[in-house]
This record gives sequence, C-alpha cells and structure tokens, in this order.
Amino acid sequence: MFSQIVLFFCVFLSLSSATTTGTIKGRLDLAANNITGFVLARTSFRLYQIGNFSTEYPYAATTTLQDDKGHFEFANLPLNDGVNATTYYVMYPTSMDFNLKPNRILVEFQNLENGTLHLNAFKNFFGRENFPSKDIIYPEELQSMSVDPYIEVELLHKAPIRSYLQTRNVSIFSTGIVGNILNSRWKLAGVITLIALVIFPIIVEKLDPETARAIKEEAKRKQREKYGAVTSK
Ligand SMILES: *[C@@H]1O[C@H](CO)[C@@H](O)[C@H](O)[C@H]1NC(C)=O
Ligand SMILES: *[C@@H]1O[C@H](CO)[C@@H](O)[C@H](O)[C@H]1NC(C)=O
Ligand SMILES: *[C@@H]1O[C@H](CO)[C@@H](O)[C@H](O)[C@H]1NC(C)=O
Ligand SMILES: *[C@@H]1O[C@H](CO)[C@@H](O)[C@H](O)[C@H]1NC(C)=O
Ligand SMILES: *[C@@H]1O[C@H](CO)[C@@H](O)[C@H](O)[C@H]1NC(C)=O
Repeated sequence: MFSQIVLFFCVFLSLSSATTTGTIKGRLDLAANNITGFVLARTSFRLYQIGNFSTEYPYAATTTLQDDKGHFEFANLPLNDGVNATTYYVMYPTSMDFNLKPNRILVEFQNLENGTLHLNAFKNFFGRENFPSKDIIYPEELQSMSVDPYIEVELLHKAPIRSYLQTRNVSIFSTGIVGNILNSRWKLAGVITLIALVIFPIIVEKLDPETARAIKEEAKRKQREKYGAVTSK
C-alpha cells in the first residue's frame, strides 16, 4: 500500500457476566503500522455515560492502551437495573498522531428478559445528536456498527504535523517595521506616495527658475479655472 497509511482500529466490546456492571474491551489494530511508544502515549479513550443513570453522577472515565497489541478496557461500568433497561455510553477515541473515524461511538447496554446483556454500538459522528430526534418526522438514523467480533473503525488519515514553534528569520527586511511594510503591497504603495509628495516640490525648486515659474503658473491657472468655473455657475 505504498506509504499511504491505512490503519484499522478495532474495538472488541465484551460483556461482563455481572448484572449490574458492564465491561467494554477494545483493541486498536494498526494494520499498516506498529504501535510505537508514541502512539501508546498519545492515544486515549474517553467514556461518558449519557441518558438515564442510577448512580449519583453519570460515569466518566479515560483509559489508555494497555500494550503494544492495542488492547484497552473499561471495566465495572455501572448499568441501570431492570428488564429491558438500557444504559448508554459515548466513547471518544483520540490520538495525537491519527484522526480516528468515527470519532464518537454510542454504546448501548440492554438487559434482556433472560438475564443476558445485549450490546449495540452506533457510529455517532461529531456534531450529530446522540439519539435521532423524535421531534423530526424523518429523523436521521444512527448507523449501527458491527460488534461481533469487534467494532472496526477506519482511521481517517494521519494527523498533520502541527508546528507549535515558528523560528523567525531575523533579517531587517523580513521582520519588524521594515519587513512589515515590504511584505504589504498597500503599505509599500503608501510609503512611495508619501516619499513622492515630499520630493516633488524639492525637484521643482531645483529646476531652472523659468521652468519652475512656468510650472507654478500653470498650476495657478488650473486652480483659477477650477474656481472660476465653480463661481460662474
Ligand atoms: C512492525 O514490526 C515488525 C516486527 O517488529 C517489523 O517486522 C515490521 O517491519 C514493522 N512494521 C512497520 C511498518 O514498522
Ligand atoms: C429514561 O427513563 C425514562 C423513564 O424511566 C424513559 O422514559 C426514558 O426514555 C429514558 N431515557 C433514556 C435515554 O433511556
Ligand atoms: C422487554 O422487551 C420485550 C421485547 O421488546 C417485550 O416483549 C417484553 O414485554 C419487555 N419486558 C418488559 C418487562 O418490559
Ligand atoms: C437471551 O435472548 C437472546 C435473544 O432474545 C438470545 O440471543 C440469547 O442467546 C439468550 N441468552 C440465553 C442465555 O438464553
Ligand atoms: C533567512 O532566510 C534566508 C533565505 O530564505 C536563509 O538563507 C537564511 O538561512 C535564513 N536565516 C535564518 C536565521 O533562518
């Protein structure tokens, strides 16, 4: 696949046998790239409980990769009690080095009548509602994700390297006031106009007296014509 980086981020979501707690097991599978120390340190997974919750506060946790195979886990997640009760979590995978898709996953735990937990996962893109709005006639359905054997998420692309520090080229023509003016066409034009305005009368004075007088007379004549034309109206 040449240098193009194609990565797969696989999440295994498994259920714990306990009725009141759930476990989310995941895996970051880099098909083309090995998980290096950088990826390990710069990848994290945030989980927030949304919707109904039975604890005092909604659950929130952050976890990181456990090993270079990409395993991670959220354990002892509180679940709502009762038959058919559902508990919702939203998981955000984040990485400094890669943009992940989907960047938001809605995870649904459901207590079935026979006592087992059922798990669903939905692609829940950024900016979209967690649940399709009931107020809309044709609500946008969330896209279901396969949870068996794992949830597979493609990586969008490698995140661009951002430069946090810009070294300045310390030349007088590229920095400071001079650089500022030289880099702006309009400022440069203004400066040239200003210089011309200052220099032009001096040049006129330096011309021979006859020519200088002629130029001045011409200017005065034009002025008179202008005002004469205005007042004669
Ligand atoms: C990943 O690691 C294996 C074994 O350490 C190595 O053979 C392979 O070349 C590495 N792949 C990349 C893309 O670095
Ligand atoms: C929360 O619980 C109420 C009543 O128990 C129910 O009507 C509502 O649909 C639930 N909301 C969610 C998001 O499950
Ligand atoms: C749970 O859901 C199933 C299927 O939707 C339904 O048949 C059953 O009556 C529900 N049980 C309770 C206690 O609401
Ligand atoms: C419980 O019910 C679901 C479907 O309703 C089924 O897939 C699952 O195998 C059942 N589990 C047990 C332990 O019977
Ligand atoms: C400034 O820019 C010039 C030409 O772009 C380059 O040759 C020079 O090395 C730069 N100086 C610094 C300090 O970056």
